Amino acid sequence: MAPAIEVADLDALAFDFYGTLVRLDRVVERCAALATAELASRWRARQIQYALLVSLMGRYQDFWTLTELALRQVARELQLDLDAAQRTELLQAWLDLEPFAEVRSALERLQTRPLFILSNGTPGMIAPVLERHGLRGFFREILSAEAVRIYKPAPAVYALVETQAGFRRDRVLFVSVNGWDVVGAAQAGLRTCYLNRTGLPPDPLGPEPDLTASHLGELATTLAP
Ligand code: LAC
Repeated sequence: MAPAIEVADLDALAFDFYGTLVRLDRVVERCAALATAELASRWRARQIQYALLVSLMGRYQDFWTLTELALRQVARELQLDLDAAQRTELLQAWLDLEPFAEVRSALERLQTRPLFILSNGTPGMIAPVLERHGLRGFFREILSAEAVRIYKPAPAVYALVETQAGFRRDRVLFVSVNGWDVVGAAQAGLRTCYLNRTGLPPDPLGPEPDLTASHLGELATTLAP
């Protein structure tokens, strides 16, 4: 599609991590092997919910801890009898995630601008995944909610592109598969790309994304044809 923004006005790109750059399949597979695939979707939803809840309460617990607490609670709700070793195995799946197939080639094409990760995850969760797949070098920095001790979609997290990375926020394109995350970034003043991997429309809360792409290769073609 024709871009609604001037591509030349973008100085940097910031990417959401989970579901945007890396697939959550490993988590789903391990949940299915140890319990049920339903655990994975409920676990992910609860992880995000806990991040929102603690943020609204004005307190911070790191994303790994929230991921662990979410697993415990959802397993209880599903009446799954997971022991500590099984919970550890499931948690480790978050460090074992695989990038989507097009990610490496797209990042190669997008490298004309500084690239960042902008995630609720901690650098300690994200860096090992990038390193394992030889992708760490593509990114100038991992901007994490941990730095401001509140989670997306709080504006302070998106503002890290300015406060930590040093770019004007209206010159940074934030890319995410999560409709709520795109809305949060737009609300905070960033330019946005909704990565429509799932075929769902953008979140109706608005503001609308500046760009839509079905995968990162399409975004690379739009930004660096
Ligand atoms: C992240 C989650 C929200 O990486 O996908 O921040």
